[in-house]
Amino acid sequence: MTTWHRTGHPTRKTRKTTGRRAVAALGLACAMVVLTAAPGSAGSGGPVGAPDPYFPLAGNQGYDVEHYDLDLDFTPATDLLVARAAIKAEAHRDLTRFSLDFSGPAVERVDVDGRPAAYSRDGQELTVVPAAKIRAGRDFTVTVRYRGTAAPIEDPALGVYGWINTDDGAVALNEPDGARSWYPVNDDVRDKATYTFRITAPAGLTALANGEPQGRPRTVGDRTTATWSMRKPMSSYLSMIAIGRFTVTDGRVGRLPNITAYDPAGDGDDAALHRTTADAVRWGQERIGRYPFDSTGGIIDRIDVGYALETQARPVYDGEPDEATIVHEIAHQWFGNSVTPKTWADLWLNEGFASYAEMLWQEEHGGPTAQEVFDRLYATPAADDFWHLKTADPGRDDLFDYEAVYLRGAMALHALRTTIGDRDFFTLLKVWAEKYRYGSADTRDLMNLARRISGEDVKPLFDAWLYTAAKPPPPRR
Ligand code: TRP
Ligand code: ZN
Repeated sequence: MTTWHRTGHPTRKTRKTTGRRAVAALGLACAMVVLTAAPGSAGSGGPVGAPDPYFPLAGNQGYDVEHYDLDLDFTPATDLLVARAAIKAEAHRDLTRFSLDFSGPAVERVDVDGRPAAYSRDGQELTVVPAAKIRAGRDFTVTVRYRGTAAPIEDPALGVYGWINTDDGAVALNEPDGARSWYPVNDDVRDKATYTFRITAPAGLTALANGEPQGRPRTVGDRTTATWSMRKPMSSYLSMIAIGRFTVTDGRVGRLPNITAYDPAGDGDDAALHRTTADAVRWGQERIGRYPFDSTGGIIDRIDVGYALETQARPVYDGEPDEATIVHEIAHQWFGNSVTPKTWADLWLNEGFASYAEMLWQEEHGGPTAQEVFDRLYATPAADDFWHLKTADPGRDDLFDYEAVYLRGAMALHALRTTIGDRDFFTLLKVWAEKYRYGSADTRDLMNLARRISGEDVKPLFDAWLYTAAKPPPPRR
């Protein structure tokens, strides 16, 4: 029996348990001149688009990253990170300067296309002034060398994320804006890129990341280097590395590599993780469509953040996960990782879909039906806090609100399903995953697609379920 489980960060003040109790009740379970001025992200390479309203400092328009090549040398005994990030990008306009998001260790040197560049740091902005202007439409590579200790971001509302030093290594998991804690990044959720991770650590430790290994790890002296690559477009919040003592299971789901790992010092093992990950991938392939990445897997470590994260192709679990959590993180590979919201306000497109996938899975695996779960939650009185936020714009500090974003997001999908019917609804899920694969989409895109597929005017339903901070009228059956 699956248990319905998703915990937010334990320190969250606004978290209410109404929803979870309701569901649980059903048993658901040198030229390197350092600039002295403090230039913002503007200059002649200033923003083209609009920054995300929830994270106005993150992301830098004016260029678009194509590939991150990250060379990371890490020593757990001292937490020392010695790194080089080579970022290949395309200029969207003439750039005399540009900025990256970076809150990591001391920068030692910056080059642009192999020539030393001037740079300065101000808050989370690393501003780079190349020796020569970069022309609009041109590709360029900025290389940043840095060294020191990296630290996580500890946000009072969103919890702990970013680079986390563990007992025997480190784990980096970045949602929503933690990538800047360990590499210079264009931390715009819409700027997807491919990645190479070259991770060096003391021999005897294992390093994992998103995607697929490039050959076997190579040991020189007492240090081992492992290389991983993510060849499909990835939003920076989904990038991940894990270094430590790990027991790795290297298997397959059909032709797809399934690489799981667990920390042997923690409790449990990854036999269940490996098998359930494979089952969830197969189930998703049948119900949603083609699996979007070139491998799958999962990593269990002891990180004490209180949540699991759907890091691309290989989620990270904080301790041994239950089946529903694995299904949730694997569902995110289609919903969130491949099809990604254009802005953080639309996070329900990730969490509502992944939560609804859990409901669909459990109704097919001997649990209550999605309708039963919906009815139980819908019985929550209109005056209850359960309804007090907007699902499609909960506010930055309530981004991960379990009730508004996860449960009501899933309920919105169920209401849509009962309104347009099973056939059109399941077509919608498939077409959504296919049409926006490797791209970005918003709530309006979903509404338009639902309208096109069903021929129904679904706007009132979207307004009531997603854009109103109140209990919606009962859906049409
Ligand atoms: N996105 C994660 C998931 O649902 C959960 C998550 C990430 C989270 N960061 C968080 C939940 C912070 C609460 C607080 O799989
Ligand atoms: Zn989720």
